[in-house]
Amino acid sequence: MKNISHTRREFVRKNSLISAGAILGLSTTNEILACFTPENSIPAILGGPPMLATHDWPSWPVWKPETDEKRVLEALRSGQWSRSKTVAEFEQRWAEIIGAKRALAVVNGTNALNASLAQLEIGWGDEVLVTPYTFIASVSSILFNGAIPVFVDIDPETFQMDPDKIEEKITNNTRAIMPVHILGLPSDIERIMNIAGKHDLVVVEDACQAWLAEVNYKKVGTFGEAGCFSFQNSKNMPIGEGGAIVSDNDEFMDRCYSYHNYGNPYGSVVGEVGAGTIIGGTKLRFTEYQAAIGLAQLDRLQEQTEMRNIRAVYFRSLIREIPGIIPYKLYDNVTKAAFHLFPFLYNKEEFRGLPKGKFVEALKAEGVPCSSGYQELNKMPYLKNTFNSRSFRKFYSGKRLNYKKYLEENSCPLNEKLCNDQAVWILQNVLLGSESDINRIVNAIEKIKNNADRIKKS
Ligand SMILES: Cc1ncc(COP(=O)(O)O)c(C=O)c1O
Repeated sequence: MKNISHTRREFVRKNSLISAGAILGLSTTNEILACFTPENSIPAILGGPPMLATHDWPSWPVWKPETDEKRVLEALRSGQWSRSKTVAEFEQRWAEIIGAKRALAVVNGTNALNASLAQLEIGWGDEVLVTPYTFIASVSSILFNGAIPVFVDIDPETFQMDPDKIEEKITNNTRAIMPVHILGLPSDIERIMNIAGKHDLVVVEDACQAWLAEVNYKKVGTFGEAGCFSFQNSKNMPIGEGGAIVSDNDEFMDRCYSYHNYGNPYGSVVGEVGAGTIIGGTKLRFTEYQAAIGLAQLDRLQEQTEMRNIRAVYFRSLIREIPGIIPYKLYDNVTKAAFHLFPFLYNKEEFRGLPKGKFVEALKAEGVPCSSGYQELNKMPYLKNTFNSRSFRKFYSGKRLNYKKYLEENSCPLNEKLCNDQAVWILQNVLLGSESDINRIVNAIEKIKNNADRIKKS
């Protein structure tokens, strides 16, 4: 059985090399074939040459003098650095691209989530259902507003909140669901919207990693009452820092605008003329030079997203042939993913018991930008410490804040396994490289597999 799958693998690899060679020309073919020299069979972590000593993917972020630098200089030289027409232009373009009626640019994705929950009046006494497989900001935004995060375990094949496990977590206090389209792969948002509708729950989408991802040709971020995006430096849409809220609800967007500008009057948020500040607010305004970078990035986001999708399909078709590597699965209704990361599940049993951490270390040594992914968010100390804070103790009963009970009720065994033993990510800019890069990453994984025993002992 092993021999058959090995032969199949060789076949796939050989063909991919031939087709890559045909596309890239003879010199590139020779370069690819050069990676099969005997000394390459020694893993880089054991002193051999790295499989990807060179590569074609760009370093991140990408920018160009004739576009980005020009726009930033224009903003700089205008002397108008605080929010003005460039921010308004960026918001209009973002709303158009995402297919939402309105967009509001804010300082970052974290505060896009904070503000959305606040303006949907989700807070003290409420419970919000969220996935444990996400970045801390999804969960911290719930606590920031005084609500309690309730974790719904994941489906390891898709890395997303499992819709089958949502209803059992709904109580009289549940007010909202926060689907997170994590890694840029859409969650099962249509099913989640149905469940939310049935139980009269608000949906705030964390689309901070999922720019331009689609379900049935509709962009994620436009399904719920609000969609939140991040433009932080590592993101596929990088501005350094930045975020956006999108929604079709004018009244909600007026409130978000007002909130992000101290609570001052805006649109439908009005009082008597001259009455002053209307709602409790804060300051989350975007700057003109951030918007200038954002507008330049928008010119390449679409094309880069298409390329990531093309490369991901190719990469997936190769690694699924390696026993012990199970690539991500997309839900059937996904028409486009964003691929902030290219994830797969690692099964150490097929790698002679080589632990995931060591596998990732060996892959990094081969020159592959990769990561072990998230740690378990539902068990970290911030929860206990927030529950112990003065305001939480004042508002909630001791019974509700019983941490031992909370941990039990929020245990997510599949997430635990995913975080600790299974998930491996390849970083997004790798998907902007060549097929030759992908071929050599596959070769690197096979090299590690063939030498798993030695690496394990090292
Ligand atoms: C899933 C998710 N949510 C929220 C955020 C917060 O975004 P920001 O870093 O822009 O505050 C991030 C950023 O890493 C994220 O990945």
